[in-house]
Amino acid sequence: ARIVVLISGSGSNLQALVDAGELGGDLVLVVSDRPGAGGLARAARAGIPTATVALADHPDRQAWEQALIDAVAAAEPDLVVLAGFMKILTGAFVDRWPTVNVHPSLLPAFPGARAPEEAIAWGVKVSGVTVHYVDEKVDHGPIIAQEAVPLEDGDTSDTLHARMQAVEHRLLPEAVALICAGRVTIDGRHTRIQ
Ligand code: GRF
Repeated sequence: ARIVVLISGSGSNLQALVDAGELGGDLVLVVSDRPGAGGLARAARAGIPTATVALADHPDRQAWEQALIDAVAAAEPDLVVLAGFMKILTGAFVDRWPTVNVHPSLLPAFPGARAPEEAIAWGVKVSGVTVHYVDEKVDHGPIIAQEAVPLEDGDTSDTLHARMQAVEHRLLPEAVALICAGRVTIDGRHTRIQ
């Protein structure tokens, strides 16, 4: 399978995919919406081609998403992985390719960009990590894998997020490998990929 990874930040989940080795697919392109995102350097070090498609370089969101679609389409992916990609995609993107996301909560709790912080504010005792197919809603779509992360006394959003990321770095490659092996089928929507 040909895998394209979208990032906005440090790319530690991208690194986990690079380091996993046995994905059953090839990382053929990394696209960032932020110039200078740390993940771009990680991709370059791993010998993966990169592209940057920044919202600021386009007249509006629709034009930006179309440019993103064009960049991704050129790599002919079977699967797109959102690994810390912080922009919302419409059906024009997510209906075109099977797209998965990793999120630092047990969805449907705490969608959005502040999930670890909100888990602490609510005082929940357990949160976690979710890998899911992406639909047009934010942090929404069929769930592929989840793992609980208990909160600890004195946790800040940073300490909690760090423990969640350690789980993400294992769960995301596992889920991608299952997809590439054709072992994830949900409602007949995203079946076997080659
Ligand atoms: C991860 O915690 C992910 O769950 C969230 O954004 C973070 C990205 O981190 N969506 P990184 O760029 O992979 O280091």
